[in-house]
Amino acid sequence: MKKRVLVVYFTQSGQLNNAVRATLSPFEKDENVELVYEEIKPVTPFPFPWTFMQFFDKFPECVQGIPCELQSLKVNPNENFDLIIIAYQAWFLSVSIPINSFLQTEAAKTLLKNKKVVTVISCRNMWLNAQEKMKASLLSLKADLVGNITYVDRASNLTSLITVMAFVFKGVQDKYLGFMPVYGVSKEELAKDAPVFGGIVLKHFARNEYSGLQKELIESGAIKIKANLMILEGRGKIFFPIYANFISKKGTSGTKERRARVRSFGIILPIVVFTLSPIITVISRVVPLLFPKKNKREMDYHSNNFLR
Ligand SMILES: Cc1cc2nc3c(=O)[nH]c(=O)nc-3n(C[C@H](O)[C@H](O)[C@H](O)COP(=O)(O)O)c2cc1C
Repeated sequence: MKKRVLVVYFTQSGQLNNAVRATLSPFEKDENVELVYEEIKPVTPFPFPWTFMQFFDKFPECVQGIPCELQSLKVNPNENFDLIIIAYQAWFLSVSIPINSFLQTEAAKTLLKNKKVVTVISCRNMWLNAQEKMKASLLSLKADLVGNITYVDRASNLTSLITVMAFVFKGVQDKYLGFMPVYGVSKEELAKDAPVFGGIVLKHFARNEYSGLQKELIESGAIKIKANLMILEGRGKIFFPIYANFISKKGTSGTKERRARVRSFGIILPIVVFTLSPIITVISRVVPLLFPKKNKREMDYHSNNFLR
């Protein structure tokens, strides 16, 4: 009998879909495996490209983990799967709203209970806090996170901040202005690395033994963490919930009363990132020298799947 894998994913532009399909190509070729893809679909689709206000108005609910309504799943939650892949993108240093909404459904409770889970993340470059939230959700669903694979945009933080803005606000999926790098995870990287990562997961899946999985994934380069981004994200993680509360005190998503605060966030955020990024890049060169143990401990922690 074939072993069954459920792949839960959401994608707007197709970037995440490309990443998860490339990762699972070794599974696709294995005739002992049945792959079932479940695309999460919000009842009201999120816009792409986004307007400035649409984008930043989603920030409070995203950070606070407030779910949106989803269309019913195609899969019957009582079906059994031997492994569940959750492929998601980070939104505002949190799990994207559609996937976070899925995690809060009754269906997710049934599907994920006592199941082995591998997460596949595709995002700009900041996924650490989102994965902390994912770890906590999986723990409360009694699921067992056994592997994590990450794909990020390899351009510098400031470059990808410009290209991601062109991507989300204008839908630019090519070289912005003709010379900036294409936003997102590179096709070459997906072609070269993703099947290797997927092959490692497949090997453990076939044996039904996952103890060394994450270690092998780390050794093969499946986890990308940069010290400067870890520090920058650490600041955002503290600041975001405060500003999210500040906005939502004025009203719920889409209300007129909170527009001024939403707009202020949309102006402050890029300014803070543009000014802090270079400073933090310098600090991040010094921190590992001053606090080598702490720096390594943090990197190791975020490379692994337990929640502290
Ligand atoms: C509302 C929103 C917020 C985002 N926030 C982050 C973030 O905090 N960190 C990050 O690395 N990428 C962030 N991104 C980029 C996404 O993770 C992802 O790369 C992009 O949306 C493409 O995914 P897609 O497959 O859904 O099109 C954000 C994108 C959107 C739309």
